[in-house]
Amino acid sequence: MTNVNSDKLSSARFAEATDAFVEVFTASVDFDQRMAAQDIQGSIAHATMLAYCGILTDAERDDIIRGLTQIAGEIERGEFVWSIKQEDVHMNIEARLTDLIGIAGKKLHTGRSRNDQVATDIRLYLRHEVQQISAQLTRLQHAILDLAEQNADTIMSGFTHLQVAQPITFGHHLMAWFEMLCRDAERLQDCLKRINVMPLGAAALAGTSYPIDRYKTAELLGFSRPSANSLDSVSDRDFAIEFTAVASLIMIHLSRFSEELILWSSAQFDFIDMPDAFCTGSSIMPQKKNPDVPELVRGKSGRVTGHLMSLLMLMKSQPLAYNKDNQEDKEPLFDTADTLINCLRAYADMIPHIKAKKDNMYNSAKRGFATATDLADYLVRKGMAFRDAHEVVGLAVRLGIETGRDLSEISLAELQNFSALINEDVFSYLTLEGSVAARKHIGGTAPETVKAAIATARAAM
Ligand code: ARG
Repeated sequence: MTNVNSDKLSSARFAEATDAFVEVFTASVDFDQRMAAQDIQGSIAHATMLAYCGILTDAERDDIIRGLTQIAGEIERGEFVWSIKQEDVHMNIEARLTDLIGIAGKKLHTGRSRNDQVATDIRLYLRHEVQQISAQLTRLQHAILDLAEQNADTIMSGFTHLQVAQPITFGHHLMAWFEMLCRDAERLQDCLKRINVMPLGAAALAGTSYPIDRYKTAELLGFSRPSANSLDSVSDRDFAIEFTAVASLIMIHLSRFSEELILWSSAQFDFIDMPDAFCTGSSIMPQKKNPDVPELVRGKSGRVTGHLMSLLMLMKSQPLAYNKDNQEDKEPLFDTADTLINCLRAYADMIPHIKAKKDNMYNSAKRGFATATDLADYLVRKGMAFRDAHEVVGLAVRLGIETGRDLSEISLAELQNFSALINEDVFSYLTLEGSVAARKHIGGTAPETVKAAIATARAAM
């Protein structure tokens, strides 16, 4: 009987050729060729293990390794011819291997299936991406620490509801971003534990009857261990979903950070000067300097969280074990990793060039009655109940609004009209410097505390 699909690897059972459109529709080589290096790495380890276990001869193993090494070179140099007829990265490489080395190439797939192969490739790919992402995240964290150090005693208004709330230091504000990124880095390392488990040996779904040594392959590939259940190994993509969830959180953090940089660089806030190299002008309005990088990062957070939804919905309703649905995992995953690395890199490059406009920051806190809570606390220390103090200060703020003065600019006599408990010493509490310096407990905004937090963070990095 002739094989109508003699150009396909697995199709002798078919009496009809694949429909031309279906061939294109079901192929993944256009995007999964991106995992070629991982595919070759996995195949070399698999062949090495097969020879170690006596399933291949040493000569066959050597031919396979030589052929795969040549293919890796062809791919790197852009000489490799990818064919949609071979459907995916795995079959393209295997077909080329057989062209190059003959019968030994056909033996590579012994005790293996594309199902455990693809799961392995994705894990190897993600492991590598997580390392790149972590490196960019660390760069960004260092940049934030440096900027925080320069601004440990730069006073600005802190906000709740985007209304002036209490004075804080800019260094303290930046250290909030640092803390968020610390948790992100921790989550990234944690998800790596579940990525770094080896599916090879699960074969199609039930394992293989060959006397393979999965510990050997895991060791060769640097996986922490072989996976514990063959069905689970080829079907679940929870590790990819988890990675995308971690990536989404990082992107949401960057998006919030972006929002602040955009607001702060506006004429209305005018808290920071954004580096020219990270902004663009307008094609029509000559005065414009647009914060493109933060805006784009904020926008890209939508795309990554969208990928998280895609992957979750991809998994939903899939019965065990492998289903072709899973081929749809790659594009969202690749784009998640690319987007995240690029955004982190842009941020790590940009943050060192941000300049705080210290006077504007200071004046914003002065204008907004930011020390109102300090006045209330002062009255409480003199024996007044907090709710009564809140009321008294409310009246003082109203006078300030009506007469266009900050609390520190209202005279002692006027303040004493609101409460006889107020003395000359009140003014040291109404200054912004006094207000921030008083918050010196751990986690507080006092310059001393911020410097200590930065030192602790540096030591921990
Ligand atoms: N291209 C496939 C994927 O991305 C590889 C696995 C194919 N397995 C199969 N039984 N059709 O998932």
